Amino acid sequence: MSDKTLVIGVLASGRGSNLQAIIDAIEGGGLEAKIGVVLSNKKNAHALQRAKRHHIPFQYVDPKDCPSREIYDTILLGLLKTHQVELVVLAGYMRLLTSELVRPYQGRIINVHPSLLPAFPGLHAHQQALDYGVKVSGCTIHFVDEEMDHGPVIAQASVPVFSGDKESSLSERILREEHRLLPKVIQEYSEGRLCVEGRIVQNRSDPQIEVIQ
Ligand code: GAR
Repeated sequence: MSDKTLVIGVLASGRGSNLQAIIDAIEGGGLEAKIGVVLSNKKNAHALQRAKRHHIPFQYVDPKDCPSREIYDTILLGLLKTHQVELVVLAGYMRLLTSELVRPYQGRIINVHPSLLPAFPGLHAHQQALDYGVKVSGCTIHFVDEEMDHGPVIAQASVPVFSGDKESSLSERILREEHRLLPKVIQEYSEGRLCVEGRIVQNRSDPQIEVIQ
């Protein structure tokens, strides 16, 4: 591992399959990054067990101990800094971030969402897509701002929606794309390939050539 290895912090509220995809990509050599810490707002989040199993520092932070969302995020910020986190990855993290966390990590927080944003933000994205009757859905990786599921889109992958699909079958199909795309985007970020201007994220194929020009 080089001195320049990107340190990421993962925030997760549940099962943690996206966290596992990141761990697998790192252990498999496809992603040059280190997970500095995994944080959760849910005591029994399986994501914490996964972190433990892979000897990654982890912590549950109880929202009930905090009088406000801002104070909660200030605690998370302190933990992320303690672990020298450079990029925050929201991997199934089901809380809106406040500016206490978004501002200090501006342009350095990414989220994975199970729909083709701006369609179907928020909770139950798969069911929203099924109820609307779309024929194509997918996932979005985007930078995080203070609005829910709103920041600049980095990457998207689409999947077909079949008649007869249920929330479970659609989410399984989309999840496979999330697991493929999330480590890829983190690797691109770590290589300095992602350039943001307003809402537009450019993926530079060779940053060194662009700097020379
Ligand atoms: C994933 O499908 C992710 O896209 C979604 O929660 C699931 C977490 O799965 N995130 C959101 O809906 C955020 N708006 P995981 O815990 O197995 O990674």
